[in-house]
Amino acid sequence: MEFSTKALAPEKVAGGCVALGVFESRRLSAAAESLDRAARGALREILKRGDMDGKLGTTRVLYQVPHVRAERVLLVGLGKEQELGAKAYREAIRCAVTAVAETGSADAHLYLVELPVKDHDLASRAQHAVSVATEALYRFDQMKSKKSPARTLKRLVLALASAAAAAPAERGLRAGRAIAAGVSLTRDLGNLPPNVCTPAYLAEQARQLAREWKLGAEVLERRDMEKLGMGALLSVAKGSRQPPKLIDLRYRGGARKAKPIVLVGKGVTFDTGGISLKPAAEMDEMKFDMCGAASVLGTLRAIAELAPALNVIGLIPTTENMPGGAASRPGDIVTSMSGQTIEILNTDAEGRLILCDALTYAERFEPAAVVDVATLTGACIIALGHVASGLYSNRDPLADELLAAGRAAWDRAWHLPLWDDYDEQLKSPFADVANIGGRPAGSITAARFLARFTHQYPWAHLDIAGTAWTSGKNKGATGRPVPLLTTFLLHRAAQSSR
Ligand code: BES
Ligand code: MN
Ligand code: ZN
Repeated sequence: MEFSTKALAPEKVAGGCVALGVFESRRLSAAAESLDRAARGALREILKRGDMDGKLGTTRVLYQVPHVRAERVLLVGLGKEQELGAKAYREAIRCAVTAVAETGSADAHLYLVELPVKDHDLASRAQHAVSVATEALYRFDQMKSKKSPARTLKRLVLALASAAAAAPAERGLRAGRAIAAGVSLTRDLGNLPPNVCTPAYLAEQARQLAREWKLGAEVLERRDMEKLGMGALLSVAKGSRQPPKLIDLRYRGGARKAKPIVLVGKGVTFDTGGISLKPAAEMDEMKFDMCGAASVLGTLRAIAELAPALNVIGLIPTTENMPGGAASRPGDIVTSMSGQTIEILNTDAEGRLILCDALTYAERFEPAAVVDVATLTGACIIALGHVASGLYSNRDPLADELLAAGRAAWDRAWHLPLWDDYDEQLKSPFADVANIGGRPAGSITAARFLARFTHQYPWAHLDIAGTAWTSGKNKGATGRPVPLLTTFLLHRAAQSSR
């Protein structure tokens, strides 16, 4: 999709479609008013007939509107004006784009970015328009023998009220494009089947990103991990025929000596549970257990395109979790890179085992902050459902930065407690720590496990088990938390340059 901005009165648009907002109930937005005047009240007349009352989620396509040059006018319900926040605004854009895409129009002028949205300036509104539109039109048909036909809709114009709005709108557009491309990459990687998207495949994708965007890339192999003493990561990989990888991808936009931000992504390309085998129902969804890794790659892609002044390192421990003759057993004790011994009581709690060694490895970069991203626990879904990602941190200001980035990008997280009181649950009679803490507070005990490996730097952990993909008939990866992470990094770059 091609996006652009333009200041032009809606009645003067000569293209295929003009999309205009209508508030509940039956109140025209400023742009709709303007077109209605040119059309001698044609829109008002339609509202009066009761065909569009402005409810959020509704749209109407009009043809042959008098004195209007565009082939179509799309009315877009916005809901109540006082309730127009990021959520309603994004919903309106999504509906508008979906509705235009169903017509034969090759282009559309969206008169929606000038709408006043609570806590979101013009740049942010333009950014959301681009990312929501891209998300709404996303398709994954790589694995189908018959591809869906190319879309007729090729161009979306974010229409502005005045030329003065062009600079902030273009800024938002640029960020929106980069974030949307990062989200799409993350969704593609997540949606690929586990027989294609293996650890080696992820490593190759990282190398390809590095070539395309001039990033640094290095891939550690099993023997490198053995030398480093990564006994926890290796214990998960033992059951699989697929060799594990530790991917290190670097974006350098900051000063040479500026401490990097390290993003660590869980890359379990398929999680059977190992010897603690998962039940069969929905096990296919465990191909999404590498979505943390995919979001780190997507974020680096977005950052590389936007080129902010900071240094970012993506670190991806990736492996399969399979049962087999060589697999770890419940009761096995392994030694992590940190030297801490771990009693594996459940081989299905594998994410923390691969992350802990990556977190120890991250110490060598003397990071300004480390943020790990992982589809870590079913318990997080019980706590927060599919709305918010779980957020933990050993520094409250870092948690606050991530929360704010999540609100700005509408990719929200919720701060959960990381109190040491929960450590009781991880005690082992035989090793330094157990890899599970029982049923209560399962997402928190997983975070407490990781916390033992992060004393050397400011650290945050995002549990994205409930937000990385959707189940049911629209099954697929969401691309979260790429918008949150990219926004966080951009805010960091803006802060440090001031
Ligand atoms: N990848 C899963 C977590 C998960 C499960 C995410 C379902 C999304 C949906 C993780 O490796 C896992 O299996 N966690 C266990 C931990 C338990 C054994 C302590 C879980 O959540 O059941
Ligand atoms: Mn598991
Ligand atoms: Zn897992």
